[in-house]
Amino acid sequence: TAQTPFTNEPFIDFADPENKRAMQAALLDVESHLNHEYDLIIGGRRLKTKEKIVSTNPARPSQVIGIHQRAEAEHAEEAIQAAQAAFATWSRTPLAERAALLFRAADLIRERKFEFCAWLTLEVGKNWAEADADVGETIDFLEFYGREALRLDQATTPIQFPGERNQLRYIPLGIGAVIPPWNFPFAIMAGMTAASIVCGNTVILKPSVDAPTIAARFMSLLEEVGLPDGVVNLCVGEGPGFGSEVVAHPQTRFIAFTGSKAVGLEIHERAAKTQPGQVFIKRTILEMGGKDSIIVDGDCDVDAAIEGVVASAFGFNGQKCSACSRAIVDAAIYDIFCDRLQARVATIKTGDPAENVYTGPVISERSYKKVLGYIEIGKSEGRLLNGGHAIETPDGGYYIAPTVIADVAPTARIAQEEIFGPVLAVIKSTSFDEALAIANNTEYGLTGAIYSSSREKLDRAREEFHVGNLYLNRKCTGAMVGAHPFGGFNMSGTDSKAGGPDYLLLFTQAKSIAEKV
Ligand code: SER
Repeated sequence: TAQTPFTNEPFIDFADPENKRAMQAALLDVESHLNHEYDLIIGGRRLKTKEKIVSTNPARPSQVIGIHQRAEAEHAEEAIQAAQAAFATWSRTPLAERAALLFRAADLIRERKFEFCAWLTLEVGKNWAEADADVGETIDFLEFYGREALRLDQATTPIQFPGERNQLRYIPLGIGAVIPPWNFPFAIMAGMTAASIVCGNTVILKPSVDAPTIAARFMSLLEEVGLPDGVVNLCVGEGPGFGSEVVAHPQTRFIAFTGSKAVGLEIHERAAKTQPGQVFIKRTILEMGGKDSIIVDGDCDVDAAIEGVVASAFGFNGQKCSACSRAIVDAAIYDIFCDRLQARVATIKTGDPAENVYTGPVISERSYKKVLGYIEIGKSEGRLLNGGHAIETPDGGYYIAPTVIADVAPTARIAQEEIFGPVLAVIKSTSFDEALAIANNTEYGLTGAIYSSSREKLDRAREEFHVGNLYLNRKCTGAMVGAHPFGGFNMSGTDSKAGGPDYLLLFTQAKSIAEKV
C-alpha cells in the first residue's frame, strides 16, 4: 500500500439497497455479540478486575454493549513497565514493519466496515453515515500516518556542511498515554494510537468509559494483524484513579489526549509537574473543546448557509468539538434566516440510530442532564425557535429535540460555554466587523465557517477569523484527513494538527548527526 498515494476512503452510499441490507445484517450480527466481557490487556496478558465498567446503548440504556474490567491506580505501574519492556524492541523494529502493521489494520477494517459501523451505532448512537465517516477516518489515519512515517524517515538536513555528512533522524519519544474521547471513539482513538506506535513509541491506551467496546474491538484487530505484546496496553478505566496515575508516572514521556477543556488542562498541569526519577520534560498533545461559529453574511446563498449550519449543528447531535453552536447572522437577512432555519430544523427526525434516523440520543445520562440544563438557561437568554425539551421513548433513550434559540447576546452563557449537544444559538450582527468580533469572542478557537459571496469578506475572514480550521462557504464539521489538518487555537488545545504533515513530529524527537568525512 505504501507505494500508492494517499486518498480518502470513499463513503458508503446507504441509498444503495445492497449497502442498506449489509448494514442491517451487521447490526443483527453485532447484536448477537453484545454482553461479552473484555479483559485488560497488559503486555499481552489478559487481566480481570473485581470492579467492572459496563457500556450501554444510549438509545436503549438497558442494552449492554460490553462489560469491561476497570483498571485502577495499581495497574498503572504494571502497564507502564509492560510498555517500557516492549519499547526496547519496538523502537528498533524497522519502520517499514511498523508502517506495514498500520496498512494491514486498515485493510482489515475496510473488509469489516459494516461491522465496525454497527458497533459505533450501538455503542455511541451514530446514524449510519456518521458511523461510516468515523470508520472511514480510522482507515484514513492508518493509511496516512503509515505513509507519513515513511516520509519522515527520508528527512534530510537543509544543507550538508562542507567536510561532513549530516543526518536528521526522527526517533521515538518513549512511553505514551493515549486518552481518546467517546465522540469519535474509533477514528480519534485509533489515530492517536497509530501515530504513537508507527513512530516507535509504545502506549497505554485508556479509552473513554462511554465507548470502551470499540477500543477493545480495535485492540483485538491489532493483535490479529501481528501487534507485538506490550506495544499497546489496553486499560479501560476512569480518569481519576487510573488515567491521572499514568499521566503523572515518571516514565510517561507524552500524553495524547482529546476531550474536554477541563480534563485537558488538568492533564497539562499534572504532566508539567516533575516527578522524582523523571529524566525528561513531558509532552502533551491536547485537542480540547470548541464553541464554533458560522458567520452568515447578508449577501450569501441563504439556503446553502442553512444547510451548512444545520449539518454542522445537528450532525451527531452537535456532539463534535467542531460542531457549530453559534450562527452569527447579518441583520439584513436575520428574520428570513430565522424563519427558514426554524422550518428546516422542524423537519429533522430524532429516533433510534440503528434505524438510521438523522439524530439519535446524546451519549449518556450525565450528558442528557447537562444539555437539558443548558436548554433551560438558553430559554432565559433568547427566543426558542425549535425543540427545547427531551423526547421520551419507551426504551428510555437519552433523546433531546434539536434546539434553536434566537436573539442570543454574544456574551450569553449559551453563546460562550461548550454544551456538546443539539443546541444552536443564533446571534444577530449589524456589520461584518461586528460579526468577526463576535466570532472571535470566546476562549476557544477550533473551527469556524463563513457563508458570503463577497471575495473581500472571505479574504478578511482568512486573515481575521481566529480558528484552527476555517471553512469558506461550507460546513465547519467533517474535516478530511490530509485535506484539513485538524486542531484549534487558544483553549481548543495545542493546535496539534491531526491528519496533517506536522502531526508525527509531535510523537518523535529529532536527532542531528554529523560525521566528519
Ligand atoms: N474531525 C472532526 C470534524 O471535523 C471533529 O473531531 O468534524
